[in-house]
Amino acid sequence: MAIQQANAVTALRTTLQSAFGRADILEVNGIGKTFPIRDMLGRRKGGVSAVDGVSFSLPKQGTLGIVGESGCGKSTLARLLMRLIEPDRGEVNYEGTNVLSLKGKAMKQARTKMQMVFQNPYSSLDPQMSVLDNVAFPLLANGATKAQARERAHHYLDAVGLSRTHADRLPGSLSGGQRQRVAIARALILEPEIVIADEAVSALDKSVQAQVLNLFQDLKRELSLSLIFISHDLHVVEYMSDEVMVMYLGRVVEKGPTARIFGAAAHPYTKALLASAPSVDIAERATADGQAEAALKGDLPSPLNPPSGCRFRTRCPHAMARCAEETPALRELAPGHTAACFLLEGDTAAAALAPTV
Ligand SMILES: Nc1ncnc2c1ncn2[C@@H]1O[C@H](COP(=O)(O)OP(=O)(O)OP(=O)(O)O)[C@@H](O)[C@H]1O
Ligand SMILES: [Mg+2]
Repeated sequence: MAIQQANAVTALRTTLQSAFGRADILEVNGIGKTFPIRDMLGRRKGGVSAVDGVSFSLPKQGTLGIVGESGCGKSTLARLLMRLIEPDRGEVNYEGTNVLSLKGKAMKQARTKMQMVFQNPYSSLDPQMSVLDNVAFPLLANGATKAQARERAHHYLDAVGLSRTHADRLPGSLSGGQRQRVAIARALILEPEIVIADEAVSALDKSVQAQVLNLFQDLKRELSLSLIFISHDLHVVEYMSDEVMVMYLGRVVEKGPTARIFGAAAHPYTKALLASAPSVDIAERATADGQAEAALKGDLPSPLNPPSGCRFRTRCPHAMARCAEETPALRELAPGHTAACFLLEGDTAAAALAPTV
């Protein structure tokens, strides 16, 4: 009954969002990638299941945070969305068009609408080119004249808080925070609608991190951007996101409004992840059933041979026989809050709904 009500609320919210122009800009359905592993002779000897059946939607001008341990598939997912890696399966619908079906010019055009900012700007900036030319480059590559591209590059350098004196320098002579601002300007010059930031502030020290996060917030507002914000730092994700998606070994285990994930987490993995956070204030937040989970122990299992059924079961304190036999589906616990765990079925799900935030 509670789930039916939650579904009705979701349907109503979707209708209202559409009516007020806040529909989803991106809708991802069942996207997956298994990297083939080959032996010395080039024969396939298995595969790394890096992303498995991930679905989510990103509301226009919303920010979706993605969290999960190292190796759980966050960067692979980002690269699949950008088509920097070709997915094996699934759909990436950008404003209603599946970009995976696009080719040639149409794909090139669609790609300008989604841009990525990486953790290490060294790898995305050319160390031999001036800051100005680095920022201008994507526009030049898309057919603008040198004068047009440089003029826009100055505009975006200005937007990220860098002055004309930075423009003629080489990236290597800038500080880490300044280089990351250059990388952001470079991502913005094609005027994307969606920016995917993959650990974009992880390499920066705390004070510079705060400046760059605020810059992201300001630019998002000024340029009406939609953001996907990937970080292993739960504080950063909580600060930046409207919604949070938790990944474990290539799959989504929980997704919901930020306040619910940090105040009423339902999946044992999310709870353990929060309990493992270095800061006391995150680790001590309420969970859906009021039960704190112990911090995470052990390593992520190999995606080369992931556990059957629920992939978290080998580290889950509540694992049952069923968890090895069946894969739990994501079920809605509250409007927009879903989690994939057999513990959350039936009466247990109703209990999980109890605290509201
Ligand atoms: N090209 C590739 N070939 C084989 N395996 C790969 C490839 N790229 C990624 N993987 C594997 O896929 C899994 C997911 O990697 P990914 O980089 O997406 O994780 P992540 O969540 O971004 O981790 P981190 O937090 O450390 O950045 C890992 O086991 C990784 O080793
Ligand atoms: Mg990564």
